[in-house]
Amino acid sequence: MQGIKTLGQFIIEKQNDFPYAKGELSRLLRDIGIAAKIVNREVNKAGLADILGSAGTTNIQGEGQQKLDVFANTQFISALTSGGECCIVATEEEDEFVPIDSPVSKNAKYIVCIDPLDGSSNIDVNVAVGTIFSIYRRKSVDGVATLQDVLQKGTQQVAAGYVIYGSSTMMVYTTGKGVNGFTLDPSIGEFCLSHPDMKIPQNGNIYSINEGNYVHFPTGVKKYIKFAQEEDAGSNRPYTSRYIGSMVGDIHRNLIKGGIYIYPTTASSPNGKLRLLYECNPMAFIIEQAGGVASDGFNRILDIEPTELHQRTSIFIGSPDMVKVAEDFMVEFSSEKNNPLNHAINLNGTAVAS
Ligand code: AHG
Ligand code: MN
Ligand code: MN
Repeated sequence: MQGIKTLGQFIIEKQNDFPYAKGELSRLLRDIGIAAKIVNREVNKAGLADILGSAGTTNIQGEGQQKLDVFANTQFISALTSGGECCIVATEEEDEFVPIDSPVSKNAKYIVCIDPLDGSSNIDVNVAVGTIFSIYRRKSVDGVATLQDVLQKGTQQVAAGYVIYGSSTMMVYTTGKGVNGFTLDPSIGEFCLSHPDMKIPQNGNIYSINEGNYVHFPTGVKKYIKFAQEEDAGSNRPYTSRYIGSMVGDIHRNLIKGGIYIYPTTASSPNGKLRLLYECNPMAFIIEQAGGVASDGFNRILDIEPTELHQRTSIFIGSPDMVKVAEDFMVEFSSEKNNPLNHAINLNGTAVAS
Protein backbone atom coordinates (compact mmCIF):
# COMPACT_ATOMS: atom_id res chain seq x y z
CA MET A 1 0.00 0.00 0.00
CA GLN A 2 1.27 3.43 -0.91
CA GLY A 3 1.88 5.81 1.99
CA ILE A 4 -0.35 8.84 2.41
CA LYS A 5 0.88 12.36 1.84
CA THR A 6 -0.78 15.06 3.91
CA LEU A 7 -1.45 18.59 2.74
CA GLY A 8 1.15 19.84 5.23
CA GLN A 9 3.82 17.47 3.89
CA PHE A 10 2.97 18.33 0.30
CA ILE A 11 3.16 22.08 0.93
CA ILE A 12 6.60 21.78 2.54
CA GLU A 13 7.81 19.53 -0.29
CA LYS A 14 6.64 22.07 -2.89
CA GLN A 15 8.22 25.03 -1.16
CA ASN A 16 11.33 24.39 -3.25
CA ASP A 17 9.26 25.42 -6.29
CA PHE A 18 9.64 28.98 -4.96
CA PRO A 19 13.31 29.39 -4.05
CA TYR A 20 12.82 33.13 -3.44
CA ALA A 21 9.99 32.57 -0.98
CA LYS A 22 10.68 32.36 2.70
CA GLY A 23 7.87 30.00 3.58
CA GLU A 24 5.12 32.59 4.11
CA LEU A 25 3.02 31.27 1.24
CA SER A 26 3.34 27.75 2.61
CA ARG A 27 2.23 28.93 6.03
CA LEU A 28 -0.66 30.86 4.50
CA LEU A 29 -1.90 27.75 2.68
CA ARG A 30 -1.51 25.72 5.86
CA ASP A 31 -3.56 28.32 7.81
CA ILE A 32 -6.32 28.19 5.19
CA GLY A 33 -6.30 24.37 5.45
CA ILE A 34 -6.72 24.56 9.23
CA ALA A 35 -9.58 27.08 9.05
CA ALA A 36 -11.23 24.88 6.42
CA LYS A 37 -11.18 21.93 8.83
CA ILE A 38 -12.92 24.02 11.48
CA VAL A 39 -15.56 25.20 9.00
CA ASN A 40 -15.97 21.62 7.81
CA ARG A 41 -16.70 20.51 11.38
CA GLU A 42 -19.52 23.07 11.63
CA VAL A 43 -20.91 22.43 8.13
CA ASN A 44 -21.09 18.73 8.95
CA LYS A 45 -23.21 19.24 12.00
CA ALA A 46 -25.33 22.03 10.54
CA GLY A 47 -28.49 20.02 11.03
CA LEU A 48 -27.75 19.47 14.72
CA ALA A 49 -26.63 22.80 16.03
CA ASP A 50 -28.56 26.00 16.35
CA ILE A 51 -26.54 27.25 13.46
CA LEU A 52 -28.98 26.50 10.73
CA GLY A 53 -30.92 29.23 8.98
CA SER A 54 -30.55 32.93 8.37
CA ALA A 55 -28.44 35.16 10.59
CA GLY A 56 -30.95 37.94 10.02
CA THR A 57 -28.36 40.23 8.44
CA THR A 58 -27.51 41.08 4.85
CA ASN A 59 -24.13 41.51 3.17
CA ILE A 60 -23.18 44.39 0.87
CA GLN A 61 -24.95 42.79 -2.09
CA GLY A 62 -28.18 42.82 -0.07
CA GLU A 63 -28.26 39.02 0.04
CA GLY A 64 -29.36 37.26 3.18
CA GLN A 65 -26.39 35.88 5.11
CA GLN A 66 -26.69 32.41 6.56
CA LYS A 67 -25.28 31.83 10.01
CA LEU A 68 -22.61 29.56 8.59
CA ASP A 69 -21.57 32.34 6.18
CA VAL A 70 -20.87 34.51 9.19
CA PHE A 71 -19.12 31.69 11.05
CA ALA A 72 -16.91 30.80 8.07
CA ASN A 73 -16.07 34.44 7.46
CA THR A 74 -14.98 34.88 11.08
CA GLN A 75 -12.94 31.66 11.07
CA PHE A 76 -10.97 32.51 7.94
CA ILE A 77 -10.30 36.10 9.00
CA SER A 78 -9.16 34.89 12.40
CA ALA A 79 -6.84 32.21 10.93
CA LEU A 80 -5.34 34.72 8.49
CA THR A 81 -4.93 37.31 11.23
CA SER A 82 -3.11 35.04 13.65
CA GLY A 83 -0.88 33.59 10.93
CA GLY A 84 0.87 36.93 10.29
CA GLU A 85 1.51 36.34 6.57
CA CYS A 86 -1.38 38.36 5.25
CA CYS A 87 -1.91 42.15 5.44
CA ILE A 88 -5.43 42.33 3.96
CA VAL A 89 -8.37 39.96 3.75
CA ALA A 90 -10.99 40.96 1.20
CA THR A 91 -14.12 38.91 1.73
CA GLU A 92 -17.45 38.65 -0.02
CA GLU A 93 -19.14 39.08 3.34
CA GLU A 94 -17.65 42.47 4.30
CA ASP A 95 -18.40 45.82 2.70
CA GLU A 96 -14.78 46.96 2.88
CA PHE A 97 -11.54 44.98 2.84
CA VAL A 98 -10.26 43.98 6.26
CA PRO A 99 -6.80 45.38 6.99
CA ILE A 100 -4.77 43.32 9.41
CA ASP A 101 -2.75 45.96 11.16
CA SER A 102 -0.97 44.08 13.90
CA PRO A 103 2.76 44.98 14.00
CA VAL A 104 3.61 41.65 12.32
CA SER A 105 0.87 41.57 9.71
CA LYS A 106 0.86 45.14 8.46
CA ASN A 107 4.13 44.58 6.59
CA ALA A 108 3.16 41.08 5.48
CA LYS A 109 3.52 40.26 1.79
CA TYR A 110 0.21 38.66 0.93
CA ILE A 111 -3.40 39.65 0.22
CA VAL A 112 -6.18 37.07 0.44
CA CYS A 113 -9.55 37.38 -1.32
CA ILE A 114 -12.13 34.90 -0.12
CA ASP A 115 -15.69 33.67 -0.53
CA PRO A 116 -15.88 31.99 2.88
CA LEU A 117 -19.01 30.00 2.10
CA ASP A 118 -20.10 29.52 -1.48
CA GLY A 119 -23.51 28.10 -2.30
CA SER A 120 -24.94 29.04 1.06
CA SER A 121 -28.53 28.55 -0.07
CA ASN A 122 -27.66 24.84 -0.08
CA ILE A 123 -26.71 24.62 3.61
CA ASP A 124 -30.20 23.96 4.89
CA VAL A 125 -30.74 21.12 2.43
CA ASN A 126 -27.53 19.13 2.90
CA VAL A 127 -26.10 19.87 -0.54
CA ALA A 128 -22.41 20.59 -1.18
CA VAL A 129 -21.09 24.05 -0.31
CA GLY A 130 -17.57 25.42 -0.53
CA THR A 131 -14.93 28.02 0.21
CA ILE A 132 -13.02 29.80 -2.56
CA PHE A 133 -9.75 31.68 -1.99
CA SER A 134 -7.24 33.65 -3.97
CA ILE A 135 -3.78 34.89 -2.91
CA TYR A 136 -1.86 37.87 -4.33
CA ARG A 137 1.46 39.40 -3.45
CA ARG A 138 0.89 43.00 -2.36
CA LYS A 139 2.09 45.64 -4.81
CA SER A 140 3.22 48.24 -2.26
CA VAL A 141 6.51 47.42 -0.58
CA ASP A 142 5.56 48.01 3.04
CA GLY A 143 3.45 50.19 5.33
CA VAL A 144 -0.32 50.08 5.26
CA ALA A 145 -1.63 48.20 2.24
CA THR A 146 -4.44 49.86 0.29
CA LEU A 147 -7.27 49.04 -2.07
CA GLN A 148 -4.82 49.25 -4.97
CA ASP A 149 -2.99 46.26 -3.48
CA VAL A 150 -6.22 44.29 -3.68
CA LEU A 151 -7.36 45.36 -7.15
CA GLN A 152 -4.99 43.19 -9.16
CA LYS A 153 -5.71 41.24 -12.31
CA GLY A 154 -6.28 37.51 -11.95
CA THR A 155 -3.03 36.85 -13.81
CA GLN A 156 -1.23 38.21 -10.73
CA GLN A 157 -2.53 35.46 -8.42
CA VAL A 158 0.21 33.45 -6.76
CA ALA A 159 -2.17 30.77 -5.52
CA ALA A 160 -5.86 29.96 -5.55
CA GLY A 161 -8.00 27.13 -4.32
CA TYR A 162 -11.31 25.88 -3.10
CA VAL A 163 -12.60 23.61 -0.43
CA ILE A 164 -15.68 21.54 -1.19
CA TYR A 165 -17.71 20.35 1.77
CA GLY A 166 -19.46 17.53 -0.05
CA SER A 167 -19.99 13.82 0.35
CA SER A 168 -16.34 14.02 1.28
CA THR A 169 -14.44 17.23 1.98
CA MET A 170 -11.68 18.20 -0.41
CA MET A 171 -9.22 21.02 -0.82
CA VAL A 172 -8.05 21.71 -4.38
CA TYR A 173 -5.41 24.35 -5.05
CA THR A 174 -2.82 25.66 -7.44
CA THR A 175 0.28 27.78 -7.06
CA GLY A 176 0.62 28.08 -10.83
CA LYS A 177 2.30 24.70 -11.25
CA GLY A 178 -0.68 22.45 -11.85
CA VAL A 179 -3.61 21.57 -9.64
CA ASN A 180 -3.66 19.10 -6.77
CA GLY A 181 -6.59 17.80 -4.74
CA PHE A 182 -6.59 16.59 -1.14
CA THR A 183 -9.39 14.66 0.55
CA LEU A 184 -10.02 15.11 4.25
CA ASP A 185 -9.62 11.86 6.15
CA PRO A 186 -11.82 12.53 9.19
CA SER A 187 -10.26 9.63 11.10
CA ILE A 188 -6.89 11.41 11.26
CA GLY A 189 -8.13 14.98 10.69
CA GLU A 190 -5.79 15.54 7.73
CA PHE A 191 -6.22 16.49 4.09
CA CYS A 192 -4.45 13.71 2.14
CA LEU A 193 -3.27 13.92 -1.47
CA SER A 194 -5.90 12.02 -3.45
CA HIS A 195 -6.02 13.80 -6.84
CA PRO A 196 -2.47 14.68 -7.95
CA ASP A 197 -2.00 16.84 -11.06
CA MET A 198 -5.68 17.24 -11.92
CA LYS A 199 -6.53 17.80 -15.60
CA ILE A 200 -9.91 18.80 -16.97
CA PRO A 201 -11.03 16.76 -20.00
CA GLN A 202 -10.54 18.64 -23.28
CA ASN A 203 -14.23 18.18 -24.06
CA GLY A 204 -17.25 17.03 -22.09
CA ASN A 205 -20.99 16.56 -22.21
CA ILE A 206 -22.22 18.39 -19.11
CA TYR A 207 -23.55 21.93 -19.18
CA SER A 208 -24.31 23.74 -15.93
CA ILE A 209 -26.42 26.89 -15.97
CA ASN A 210 -29.50 28.13 -14.13
CA GLU A 211 -31.87 27.57 -17.02
CA GLY A 212 -34.77 29.09 -15.08
CA ASN A 213 -33.34 32.45 -16.11
CA TYR A 214 -33.47 31.50 -19.80
CA VAL A 215 -35.70 34.36 -20.92
CA HIS A 216 -33.24 36.85 -19.42
CA PHE A 217 -30.13 35.38 -21.09
CA PRO A 218 -28.21 37.01 -23.95
CA THR A 219 -29.03 35.52 -27.36
CA GLY A 220 -25.64 33.80 -27.62
CA VAL A 221 -26.34 31.85 -24.40
CA LYS A 222 -29.85 30.92 -25.54
CA LYS A 223 -28.44 29.62 -28.83
CA TYR A 224 -25.72 27.68 -26.98
CA ILE A 225 -28.33 26.01 -24.76
CA LYS A 226 -30.34 24.99 -27.82
CA PHE A 227 -27.12 23.68 -29.42
CA ALA A 228 -26.42 21.66 -26.22
CA GLN A 229 -29.90 20.10 -26.47
CA GLU A 230 -29.72 19.16 -30.14
CA GLU A 231 -29.27 15.56 -31.23
CA ASP A 232 -25.84 14.91 -32.74
CA ALA A 233 -24.19 11.57 -32.04
CA GLY A 234 -20.83 12.75 -33.41
CA SER A 235 -20.45 15.40 -30.73
CA ASN A 236 -22.23 13.44 -27.99
CA ARG A 237 -25.24 15.75 -27.96
CA PRO A 238 -27.66 16.28 -26.39
CA TYR A 239 -25.47 17.12 -23.43
CA THR A 240 -26.43 16.39 -19.85
CA SER A 241 -27.67 19.27 -17.69
CA ARG A 242 -26.34 19.43 -14.11
CA TYR A 243 -26.71 22.48 -11.87
CA ILE A 244 -26.36 22.34 -8.09
CA GLY A 245 -26.35 26.08 -7.36
CA SER A 246 -22.96 25.92 -5.62
CA MET A 247 -20.33 27.15 -8.06
CA VAL A 248 -17.69 25.10 -6.23
CA GLY A 249 -19.75 21.92 -6.55
CA ASP A 250 -20.64 22.45 -10.19
CA ILE A 251 -17.10 23.34 -11.24
CA HIS A 252 -15.51 20.57 -9.18
CA ARG A 253 -17.69 17.98 -10.94
CA ASN A 254 -16.96 19.47 -14.35
CA LEU A 255 -13.22 19.56 -13.59
CA ILE A 256 -13.29 15.81 -13.02
CA LYS A 257 -15.84 14.76 -15.65
CA GLY A 258 -15.53 17.48 -18.28
CA GLY A 259 -18.15 20.16 -18.82
CA ILE A 260 -18.97 23.84 -18.94
CA TYR A 261 -20.33 26.09 -16.18
CA ILE A 262 -21.98 29.33 -17.28
CA TYR A 263 -23.26 32.24 -15.24
CA PRO A 264 -24.00 34.87 -17.88
CA THR A 265 -25.24 38.41 -17.66
CA THR A 266 -29.00 38.53 -17.28
CA ALA A 267 -31.62 41.24 -17.59
CA SER A 268 -31.64 41.65 -13.80
CA SER A 269 -27.82 41.30 -13.38
CA PRO A 270 -26.41 43.13 -16.41
CA ASN A 271 -22.83 42.63 -15.13
CA GLY A 272 -23.38 39.01 -14.16
CA LYS A 273 -23.89 37.73 -10.62
CA LEU A 274 -20.63 36.16 -9.58
CA ARG A 275 -17.80 38.19 -8.12
CA LEU A 276 -14.55 38.61 -9.98
CA LEU A 277 -12.25 38.72 -6.96
CA TYR A 278 -13.77 36.07 -4.72
CA GLU A 279 -15.21 33.55 -7.18
CA CYS A 280 -14.28 33.99 -10.84
CA ASN A 281 -10.56 34.78 -10.67
CA PRO A 282 -9.64 31.92 -8.32
CA MET A 283 -11.77 29.41 -10.24
CA ALA A 284 -10.34 30.68 -13.55
CA PHE A 285 -6.76 30.25 -12.29
CA ILE A 286 -7.47 26.69 -11.10
CA ILE A 287 -9.28 25.66 -14.27
CA GLU A 288 -6.61 27.16 -16.56
CA GLN A 289 -3.95 25.36 -14.55
CA ALA A 290 -5.90 22.14 -15.10
CA GLY A 291 -5.89 22.77 -18.87
CA GLY A 292 -9.30 24.47 -19.13
CA VAL A 293 -10.55 27.89 -20.20
CA ALA A 294 -12.35 30.69 -18.34
CA SER A 295 -13.93 33.56 -20.23
CA ASP A 296 -16.53 36.28 -19.71
CA GLY A 297 -17.97 35.23 -23.06
CA PHE A 298 -15.52 37.31 -25.07
CA ASN A 299 -12.32 37.74 -23.07
CA ARG A 300 -10.17 35.81 -20.64
CA ILE A 301 -11.38 36.26 -17.03
CA LEU A 302 -7.81 36.54 -15.71
CA ASP A 303 -7.17 39.58 -17.95
CA ILE A 304 -10.04 41.66 -16.53
CA GLU A 305 -8.74 44.80 -14.81
CA PRO A 306 -10.67 45.09 -11.53
CA THR A 307 -11.88 48.54 -10.55
CA GLU A 308 -13.90 47.69 -7.46
CA LEU A 309 -13.87 45.19 -4.64
CA HIS A 310 -17.24 43.58 -5.25
CA GLN A 311 -17.07 43.71 -9.03
CA ARG A 312 -19.13 41.12 -10.88
CA THR A 313 -18.62 39.41 -14.19
CA SER A 314 -20.25 36.85 -16.43
CA ILE A 315 -18.34 33.56 -16.63
CA PHE A 316 -18.01 30.64 -19.07
CA ILE A 317 -15.61 28.13 -17.57
CA GLY A 318 -14.61 24.53 -18.09
CA SER A 319 -13.41 22.13 -20.78
CA PRO A 320 -11.58 24.15 -23.45
CA ASP A 321 -13.49 22.81 -26.47
CA MET A 322 -16.85 23.55 -24.85
CA VAL A 323 -15.95 27.06 -23.70
CA LYS A 324 -14.60 27.92 -27.15
CA VAL A 325 -17.86 26.87 -28.81
CA ALA A 326 -19.89 28.89 -26.28
CA GLU A 327 -17.66 31.92 -26.93
CA ASP A 328 -18.27 31.51 -30.66
CA PHE A 329 -22.02 31.70 -30.05
CA MET A 330 -21.52 34.82 -27.93
CA VAL A 331 -19.50 36.49 -30.66
CA GLU A 332 -21.84 35.42 -33.43
CA PHE A 333 -24.97 36.66 -31.67
CA SER A 334 -23.45 39.67 -30.00
CA SER A 335 -25.07 43.00 -30.70
CA GLU A 336 -21.58 44.54 -30.54
CA LYS A 337 -20.98 45.17 -34.19
CA ASN A 338 -17.27 45.52 -33.61
CA ASN A 339 -17.06 41.79 -32.90
CA PRO A 340 -16.31 40.42 -36.36
CA LEU A 341 -18.26 37.32 -37.24
CA ASN A 342 -15.15 35.42 -38.14
CA HIS A 343 -16.27 32.17 -36.63
CA ALA A 344 -18.92 29.68 -37.53
CA ILE A 345 -20.10 26.61 -35.71
CA ASN A 346 -20.16 23.32 -37.55
CA LEU A 347 -22.34 20.44 -36.50
CA ASN A 348 -19.53 18.71 -34.66
CA GLY A 349 -19.48 21.59 -32.25
CA THR A 350 -16.03 22.76 -33.26
CA ALA A 351 -15.32 26.28 -34.36
CA VAL A 352 -14.14 26.85 -37.90
CA ALA A 353 -13.00 30.08 -39.51
CA SER A 354 -15.54 31.35 -42.01
P1 AHG B 1 -22.81 32.57 -2.60
O1 AHG B 1 -23.48 31.48 -1.82
O2 AHG B 1 -21.37 32.77 -2.19
O3 AHG B 1 -23.58 33.85 -2.63
O4 AHG B 1 -22.68 32.09 -4.12
C1 AHG B 1 -23.73 31.50 -4.80
C2 AHG B 1 -23.39 31.57 -6.26
C3 AHG B 1 -22.77 30.32 -6.84
O5 AHG B 1 -22.14 29.48 -5.97
C4 AHG B 1 -23.90 29.63 -7.53
O6 AHG B 1 -23.47 28.88 -8.63
C5 AHG B 1 -24.80 30.74 -7.90
O7 AHG B 1 -24.58 31.77 -6.98
C6 AHG B 1 -26.22 30.33 -7.86
O8 AHG B 1 -27.00 31.40 -8.27
P2 AHG B 1 -28.49 31.19 -8.81
O9 AHG B 1 -29.30 30.77 -7.63
O10 AHG B 1 -28.86 32.55 -9.34
O11 AHG B 1 -28.43 30.15 -9.90
MN1 MN C 1 -20.17 32.34 -3.83
MN1 MN D 1 -20.54 33.21 -0.20
